[in-house]
Amino acid sequence: METQDNFCGTKSMAKVSLKRGNSCKTLDLESIHNPDVCADILEYDPGQCVYSHFSPPCTSFSVASIGRHWTGGKGAYIPKSDTAILGLKILNRVAELIAKHKYKYWTVENPRCVFRKLFPDILRKHGITDFRIVTVTYCQYGYKIMKPTDFITNIPGWKGKKCSNGSSCHESAPRGSKTGTQGLKNAKLRGKIPSALFHEIFDYIELAEKKSDN
Ligand SMILES: C[S@@+](CC[C@H](N)C(=O)[O-])C[C@H]1O[C@@H](n2cnc3c(N)ncnc32)[C@H](O)[C@@H]1O
Repeated sequence: METQDNFCGTKSMAKVSLKRGNSCKTLDLESIHNPDVCADILEYDPGQCVYSHFSPPCTSFSVASIGRHWTGGKGAYIPKSDTAILGLKILNRVAELIAKHKYKYWTVENPRCVFRKLFPDILRKHGITDFRIVTVTYCQYGYKIMKPTDFITNIPGWKGKKCSNGSSCHESAPRGSKTGTQGLKNAKLRGKIPSALFHEIFDYIELAEKKSDN
């Protein structure tokens, strides 16, 4: 199966995809990640494939930075920084690519916060209505941290696994402490996604493929 890991960073998705016998094209702006294509997705079209994954940067979408990047009162999310304007531009580009290529399966991931408020309307604006928000917590996939994360996706049947605040499956991480996602040393590590999570996603894709063969 042809797959793509867009905004690949440490290639969390690509590593699992290749392990499962697929081909995977990786794309990132930064050459330090050694992607197959080193380009700005605003100017480069990764093209067609069966399953395309997107991990757009969350710089302006996290809880900690809402006040710095957004204005307009509760739920308005009017961008007030260049970073927020760029964040919106990138989300629009991702929706444009999904609408153009009609990937059979796609996932777009971001930490649970502003992304889930903005991206559904952006998708609808591009005529995409067949999608769900699947929230997962990384502790359910072998990580010590909870990191609630939203995947917006069209993968049939996939519900993901999540726990709740205060559960003992993850280390406690009050705001400002050195644990949880905020305790991870650099942005590179903070962007990593558990391989068990992508294995679960591929299980559902393979199941859907089997059903469409019959
Ligand atoms: C949240 S990280 C992705 C982490 C990745 N999922 C992983 O497994 O490590 C976002 C990535 O998007 C890349 N990026 C940011 N802006 C981009 C752009 N305009 N085009 C392509 N890649 C971009 C960054 O270099 C960064 O590696």
